[in-house]
Amino acid sequence: MKKMILDVDTGVDDALAIAYAVGQSDVELLGITTTFGVAPVEYSYRNTKSVLGSLNKDVPVYKGSKEPLKRERVHDGKIHGNDGIGETLGYVEESETITKDAVDFIIEQTKKYKSDLIIVTTGPLTNLARAIDKEPQIMKYVGRIVTMGGAVASPGNVNKFAEANISVDPDAADFVFKSRLPITLVGLDVTRKTLLNKDNVKEWERIGTSSAKFFAAFTQFYLDAYKKIHPTLKGCALHDPLAVGIALYPELVRTIPMHIEVDLSEEVLGRTVENTNLEDTEPNTLVCLQVDSKRFTEDFFNKVNNILSV
Ligand code: RIB
Ligand code: CA
Repeated sequence: MKKMILDVDTGVDDALAIAYAVGQSDVELLGITTTFGVAPVEYSYRNTKSVLGSLNKDVPVYKGSKEPLKRERVHDGKIHGNDGIGETLGYVEESETITKDAVDFIIEQTKKYKSDLIIVTTGPLTNLARAIDKEPQIMKYVGRIVTMGGAVASPGNVNKFAEANISVDPDAADFVFKSRLPITLVGLDVTRKTLLNKDNVKEWERIGTSSAKFFAAFTQFYLDAYKKIHPTLKGCALHDPLAVGIALYPELVRTIPMHIEVDLSEEVLGRTVENTNLEDTEPNTLVCLQVDSKRFTEDFFNKVNNILSV
């Protein structure tokens, strides 16, 4: 059984990644940690719990970072909606629900499972950076970190240079890349090649269970947003589910080891770039550059359609 923590900013495609992860028979999802990102953390926490509830899955969820390490939080709601989940769940009251802090959960589970643990991040890297900062001696034992973020050989999605998860907290990402932990970077280079289209949403409407209808509704919002922003793309990107896929089936992608840095200069803030000018250019990241989209999307829709049928 593979042990996994998902660190999310749920998020439409984070919700799809959660369904894909809980639909796997050989994964023990130890817990889901949440962060601000596409919406405030109160929303990503609530959205995560609602998604799990709709799937009838009892996985512990922890609230984490409210803000980037050093900058102001920004989010515009255009792609995921103001509630982060396609305007299907609406407003959340600020609450002081006491759960174990996400950062402490990550540290505790890394101490327990060490190299058997895979952490998949599908939001900004703030929780992970804080865990590494707090307990570097424990975090160095983690098995693998699979991160949806960045764009190394293709344009960004926030601007020409930067991808959203890196861009909302570039200082956290910079810190994580410098930590020398075993990172696999699942960037726009591959995630833009794994798409969901309107027929997939129609299939969930046809399945017709309450979870399938919920998933169809929030995914339709995301599809519509993609149509406006990327009119030539034939669907919307399965960014976050692909990170889960690669964590479980590394053979889905071709990777190249590189020394990745996060650009912190204002003009190209958040760009993930290979730096070959340093004295120490030892690779710190496996960068995914080619993906078997057919194999991934077949597996994704098989497992998600199954779980939405129950
Ligand atoms: O750039 C895509 C990423 O930003 C995805 O993780 C999406 O959910 C948002 O967080
Ligand atoms: Ca996300």
